[in-house]
Amino acid sequence: MRNNIVAGNWKMNNDATQTTELINDLNKALEEVSINCRVLISPTSINLTSAVALTEDSVIEVAAQNMHQAKNGAFTGEISAAMLNDVGVKSVILGHSERRTYFGENDQILTEKVASALENNLEIIFCFGELLQDRKSGNHFKVVESQLKNTVLSLNAASWEHIVLAYEPVWAIGTGETASPEQAQEMHAYIRSLLVSTYGISVAENVSILYGGSVKPTNAKEIFSKEDVDGGLIGGASLKATDFTGIITAF
Ligand code: PGA
Repeated sequence: MRNNIVAGNWKMNNDATQTTELINDLNKALEEVSINCRVLISPTSINLTSAVALTEDSVIEVAAQNMHQAKNGAFTGEISAAMLNDVGVKSVILGHSERRTYFGENDQILTEKVASALENNLEIIFCFGELLQDRKSGNHFKVVESQLKNTVLSLNAASWEHIVLAYEPVWAIGTGETASPEQAQEMHAYIRSLLVSTYGISVAENVSILYGGSVKPTNAKEIFSKEDVDGGLIGGASLKATDFTGIITAF
C-alpha cells in the first residue's frame, strides 16, 4: 500500500537527553493534532534502543540511519541489520548522499546493504539524487536512472513491499534551497515511470516516493500536494518538535 510518510533524519545530532526530550515533545504534540501519514524518526544508533522504548505507545516509528551489509564479524564500529531488528528497529535509511559522499558508499555496497536489510525484514528508505552539476548539465534524469538501475531496480517485485524511495537532490540538502514542487513532481513521475516499465503498474502505484531537501513547514504542503510526492525525508526541520509537527500536519 502506498502510504504518505514523513520521516525525520536526525543525522549526528541530539545526545541521550536531547533525544528523550525531543521524542517526549513530539509524542505530546502529535497527540493534539490529526495525523494523515506515517511518522518516522531516525536518531543516532546509540539512542535507537531508548527511542524504541519512548515510542512504544506512540504513532512514531523508529528508523536507523545506516547499517553494515555483513551479518556479523570483524567490522569495527559497525552495526548489522539483525542487530537493528533485535532492538525493535523496523526501518533503515540507506544510500543517503552524506553516506555516499563522506563514507564512500557506492552502488555495489548499497546493493549488498539492501539485500541484508531485506533478509532481516527491515523496511528500507532508499535515498538517491543528482548533484548540482548534473542538474545544470541536464543529466539529472540519467543520473537518477543509473542510481536506481544499479541497485534497487534489479530486486524482485515482492521486495518492493518493503522499500520506500527518497529522491533527494544533493543541491537541496541542508542548503535552504528546495526543488520546486514542479521539479519534484517531474522527477517523481519519472521515477514511477521507471517502476512501471520494470515491474508494471500495480507495483509502481504502491511504492511511496518521498522528497528530501530543505523541506520546512512553510513549503511542505505545496510539495506534498503533488501527485507523485508521497511525503518527505526531513533533516534540519526534524530537529524541532514544532517544525516537524508542522510538516507532518501538512498532510
Ligand atoms: P535537510 O536534509 O532537510 O536538512 O535539507 C534532508 C536530508 O538530508 O534527508
